Amino acid sequence: MATTSSSFSIIFGLFLILGVAVSQSEARAFFVFGDSLVDSGNNNYLATTARADSPPYGIDYPTRRATGQQIGSSESPLPYLSPELTGQRLLVGANFASAGIGILNDTGIQFVNIIRIGQQLDYFRQYQRRVSGLIGEASTQRLVNQALVLMTLGGNDFVNNYYLVPNSARSRQYSIQDYVPYLISEYRKILINLYNLGARRVIVTGTGPLGCVPAELAQRSRNGECAPDLQQAAALFNPQLTQMLQGLNSELGGNVFIAANTRQMAISFITDPQRYGFITSKVACCGQGPYNGLGLCTPLSNLCPNRDVYAFWDPFHPSEKANKIIAQQILTGSSQYMTPMNLSTILAMDSQT
Ligand SMILES: *[C@@H]1O[C@H](CO)[C@@H](O)[C@H](O)[C@H]1NC(C)=O
Ligand SMILES: *[C@@H]1O[C@H](CO)[C@@H](O)[C@H](O)[C@H]1NC(C)=O
Repeated sequence: MATTSSSFSIIFGLFLILGVAVSQSEARAFFVFGDSLVDSGNNNYLATTARADSPPYGIDYPTRRATGQQIGSSESPLPYLSPELTGQRLLVGANFASAGIGILNDTGIQFVNIIRIGQQLDYFRQYQRRVSGLIGEASTQRLVNQALVLMTLGGNDFVNNYYLVPNSARSRQYSIQDYVPYLISEYRKILINLYNLGARRVIVTGTGPLGCVPAELAQRSRNGECAPDLQQAAALFNPQLTQMLQGLNSELGGNVFIAANTRQMAISFITDPQRYGFITSKVACCGQGPYNGLGLCTPLSNLCPNRDVYAFWDPFHPSEKANKIIAQQILTGSSQYMTPMNLSTILAMDSQT
């Protein structure tokens, strides 16, 4: 029953697409924090079970190797633990994300050696010291203040904690109605720490439609319908997150935090996959068992011939095509998806000041 949302890195995914969009518009550093939806490979430098550097991950890379980290594009930030992240490359930004982690320290406890969010922020502090050594303190502060930051947390606090096993410790401690506000209040502290470290433009994604991923269809669904308990959790979490971010913004007196309703974005292509060019939103491209939703994507898995027509790459993670749709909505989406505004509006605003 244990679901391991262990792997991976939508390398070619969300952060890469956003990072390129941002760096094309102006010289602006890009920092990424959070979990596996944005991990570009830090876990591959750790002795952990939550990693994604075995084939066929990476099949869509230019090199078709599974390195678990993005390569090539000099505009995109490297994983913080990459030995190549030195000198001028530091000025582009860094990716601190780590698969399996959550808002809470006890999330992902089944994985050893993942980089919890507090540690990610410590690395960010260390990063700033390193950059100060290169360009001085004042310039470093400016670089950080002007950077764009992407933060993705929360999904694992349900999948790899509350709902990990029946009768989990957290589910005995809290009803889901009480667990969500607890998560939000802890998340708020993390975001204030991030602000205090200098971040001034932070895109915060909600959780996806957790109950609709192939892994949950395989394990919790009778007839292919989305798992109701996880759907309820995501439905509670996302609006409370947006509300908390708006509260923080009015306290801080600026649009520091921008909520991206990735759940709503994903629901659109899950409920009407054909409209987005997918043949299915239920079956993963790579996996095994019902919906290809069991286990990890390994060399022994079923692998679909055309990844572009699948909404899910593996049992947990959206395909590259799906991530492109999400990235596009973050850039140009309406207020249904982006609060208080979309990224292109922000970039336009910032380039005028
Ligand atoms: C999580 O761990 C960090 C580092 O040990 C600690 O500072 C933080 O307070 C912990 N968070 C919670 C909610 O206990
Ligand atoms: C982005 O947000 C702005 C302001 O809310 C809106 O006018 C615009 O239609 C959105 N989309 C694009 C492509 O800018």
